[in-house]
Amino acid sequence: MSTTPAAFDHLDGTLPATEVRRAHAEMRERCPVVHSDRHGGFDYLTRYENVRSALNDPVAFSSADGVKIPANPLLPPVPALEFDEPEHAEWRRVLDGPLTPRAVRAFEPVIAEVVDLLIDAFAGSGKADLVDQLAEPLPAIVIGRMIGLEQPEAVRARGIAAALYAAMGTAEFPARYAEFHDTTQRWLADRREHPRDDMLTQMAKGVVEGRTIDEAGATGLLLAYIVGGHHSTGSALGGLIRHVLTLPGLRDELIADRKGLPRVIEESLRLTTPLQLFARTVRCPVQVGDHELAEGGRVLLDLAAANRDPREFSDPETFDRARTRNRHVTFGSGSHVCQGQHLARAELRIALGRLLDRIPDLRLDGDPVESGLVGGSLMTHYALPVAFTPEDSP
Ligand code: HEM
Repeated sequence: MSTTPAAFDHLDGTLPATEVRRAHAEMRERCPVVHSDRHGGFDYLTRYENVRSALNDPVAFSSADGVKIPANPLLPPVPALEFDEPEHAEWRRVLDGPLTPRAVRAFEPVIAEVVDLLIDAFAGSGKADLVDQLAEPLPAIVIGRMIGLEQPEAVRARGIAAALYAAMGTAEFPARYAEFHDTTQRWLADRREHPRDDMLTQMAKGVVEGRTIDEAGATGLLLAYIVGGHHSTGSALGGLIRHVLTLPGLRDELIADRKGLPRVIEESLRLTTPLQLFARTVRCPVQVGDHELAEGGRVLLDLAAANRDPREFSDPETFDRARTRNRHVTFGSGSHVCQGQHLARAELRIALGRLLDRIPDLRLDGDPVESGLVGGSLMTHYALPVAFTPEDSP
């Protein structure tokens, strides 16, 4: 099989979500390797087996030239994500402290507290936009609290992180990055003067998990946490809430019994695929089907197309709340697999659980508004209007 040119441009943010999904499916069904001449030229891999193999072979498929096409020359390499071995493993150790399953379990009461504060703000009104008022702010505030910020500063950090992400690829980016950098340097300066038992203090002292961290390293770490875990988890939560409120009987089934929730979360993660495209550089010739990927070439791994590949998932377009084999690649696979996956899953479980506990008659009140591809990888919701019986004021 030979490659055929892709009409699809992943940086065209005007394409609606339905068109993006159609393009993913068309490329996947046409050829295992689809070439694009855009942005310097690269190949798409879209089939589950090929995407998974590439993710699992970080020697042949390097992340060190960045995981975006085109690369953003203004952004330093994101720790762990955009490094190969041996630096990759070192950064992973540094990042891992608050993200292990055990650390996340211990942190769950803080997640529940942040969720409840956000729900308190709209529960008495009978109406809300669950993107604006829950899914979008929650992950950034949670990460802020995780590194040691107090709630008000964590709320402020959320605004800065959101502005930075929105500015990617635009002329606004340098100004937003300078704001992010200045803010994080201020946090570190504060911890140098007033050390605490938190992650920011470790960064301020310049040693985290035994690794020396300079100023650029500290900014990179904060970037990995705040930017990496913000919109991704917000998108996943928006997708989950939408599925639960639109699939017949699902909301009431979960209110009656939560045991099906883990499978519902995994199935929603598969179909939502918040971060859809990750780049690699081919370091040695690799055979994919009849096509040889040449050394030095760039590839874009299409996780969203892989997650709906009928060769791996039976009836892939259907939300199957009882799906037993669900090896989705929403969090990637192999050595770069998402370090924040336990935190993300805990946020999804706790946020949906508290919503259903407190507002059992939650229902959609208007059409959800879905984005196309934002920044060449993220797909999310812009609005999820809901209505419900107002919670009694305390
Ligand atoms: C539903 C939410 C999330 C999704 C869909 C997601 C997705 C991903 C994916 C696909 C990768 C692998 C990228 C690659 O192979 O190039 C990744 C890596 C990573 N994620 Fe997440 N992520 C989520 C939440 C988070 C959170 C909450 C954090 C941290 C607070 C986080 C931190 C990271 C880090 C540090 C890496 C790099 C790991 C490495 O390169 O070894 N993510 N994520």
